[in-house]
Amino acid sequence: MKSATCEVTPLKNTGKNIYPHQGFVSRKKRNQEFGHESGVVWLTGLSGAGKSTIATLAERMLFQQGYNVSILDGDTLRSGLNADLDFSRESREENLRRTGEVASLFAETGHIVLASFISPHHEGRETVRSIIENNFYLVHVHAEIDDCITRDPKGLYKKALLGGIENFTGIGQEYEEPENPDLEINTSACSIADSTMKLVTFIKSNFQL
Ligand code: ADX
Repeated sequence: MKSATCEVTPLKNTGKNIYPHQGFVSRKKRNQEFGHESGVVWLTGLSGAGKSTIATLAERMLFQQGYNVSILDGDTLRSGLNADLDFSRESREENLRRTGEVASLFAETGHIVLASFISPHHEGRETVRSIIENNFYLVHVHAEIDDCITRDPKGLYKKALLGGIENFTGIGQEYEEPENPDLEINTSACSIADSTMKLVTFIKSNFQL
């Protein structure tokens, strides 16, 4: 009996004797199957600005409408993969680099990734952009620092203002505002419902096939 033949993609050496694996199900095929493009929507902003809240609501809304959508969240990643990292500048960069690589894998397998990270520095955000390459969108979720301090859902601003948290963004470490975000959502001026709709509308128009 003849053995089954299979297509073989030539292996590419990265130069370090590593050969990234290539499957038969391409990103394009997955996008066609799910009915939309895949990529990464990167939400940056102060703690308490509303990034995770808006991402969670947008994820549910899009999922209910048939989108293949997932969240990567700073606190969640820092509870596992990135649990060894602190909040020094170097660790924040590494946090974003690793997350960028994970987000890139998700995007390759057809997901729209909502990544919610303070990502306070231009450099880290540009590192992620360069890892993702295709369909990377930067969304600035802006809120006045005074509003974040008033909201303080985790009680962290209170602690930081009392000197209990080193390098807390907006208190002990600077947040560099993005210069040219693809979308700006101002949660000091807009309700959570309107902010979520803004994000959902943006995603629907940018991830059409
Ligand atoms: S980032 O700067 O490296 O992008 P990331 O989004 O992963 O940060 O994590 C931010 C979360 O970590 C905050 O929502 C907060 O719950 C927690 N956190 C603990 N310490 C700090 C700190 N020094 N600065 C900012 N966030 C902190």
